[in-house]
Amino acid sequence: MDNTATARARANIALVKYWGKADVELNTPAVGSISITLDTLWSQTQVRFVPGLDSDRFVLNDLSDRKQLARVSACLDLLRARAGVDTRADVASRNNFPTGAGLASSASGFAALVTAAAAALDLQLSDRELSIFARRGSGSAARSIFGGYVEMHAGSATDGCDSYAEPLAPPEAWPLQVVVAITNAGAKAVGSGPGMQRSAQSSPYYAAWVDTSPRDLAAARAAIAARDFEKLAAVAEHSCLKMHAAALASEPALLYWNAATVECMHAIWRLRREGVAVFFTIDAGPQVKAVCAPGARAQVAAALESLPGVVETLVSGLGPGVELL
Ligand code: DP6
Repeated sequence: MDNTATARARANIALVKYWGKADVELNTPAVGSISITLDTLWSQTQVRFVPGLDSDRFVLNDLSDRKQLARVSACLDLLRARAGVDTRADVASRNNFPTGAGLASSASGFAALVTAAAAALDLQLSDRELSIFARRGSGSAARSIFGGYVEMHAGSATDGCDSYAEPLAPPEAWPLQVVVAITNAGAKAVGSGPGMQRSAQSSPYYAAWVDTSPRDLAAARAAIAARDFEKLAAVAEHSCLKMHAAALASEPALLYWNAATVECMHAIWRLRREGVAVFFTIDAGPQVKAVCAPGARAQVAAALESLPGVVETLVSGLGPGVELL
């Protein structure tokens, strides 16, 4: 082994959301989730274990990132423990999507990190094991190990061994498209990790959110198996709005939307009433992800771009799982 490896992982977008942790230390989710992996938005990460290095180093888009270093190091520690080594690493990561766009990069970032680190350490890990290591870095990263339609299992084992993602269907099985509407990226929101913790501790709707999740997962699984767009639209918007309802009812409140976010939601509902196959989903930020049938992409992008407050749109199809380069 030459102690160096590079991996590329794509961003993913949850259609049935993860919001809430069962075990903070193991980073196991309180609910399962279902996502689609995108093709054009990715993180590429090189990990080089360097004998003699005092501490890990982390460079993101050519800039040293001290804020994320502790999280990266903690994730590398798990892989070092598995390999029985103590060598520190030089990590260089790059996101191809615009920084400041307010798109979460932790999913693609940690999926690429653990895959590259495992290869650099010559660990022969299965995709399931990679998914478990990626989960420790960021819950949504467990899903970016796989391409296309992916389900994350919450699991129930006390050591987190059954809390991993699995592929449901490959990208080509149902090649939906995603138009991401970037709205004002200015306001700094509370990150998803702290946000979901706040909801779990203070939202009166949190228990209902957790209790009703199995039903949403079953509905989404069935809609994907049947390629039923209307059913998938209904359950995905319901899961998204229910997550935000739980977040809104937290103390202090978590409102991730701005005016343009709401404009996008109305525009997407208008399009759907006119017969366009499109639905929205929104994560812990003001960006709106419009999921649509391939033929509707141009119309959806044009409609969202014409709204006041929409800065730009990014378009992506569905993509593959993590790749070693
Ligand atoms: C709203 O995976 O970022 O995007 O496990 O604390 O890193 P941590 O949280 P993270 O949460 C993602 C939350 C979400 C919904 C989702 O992607 O399922």
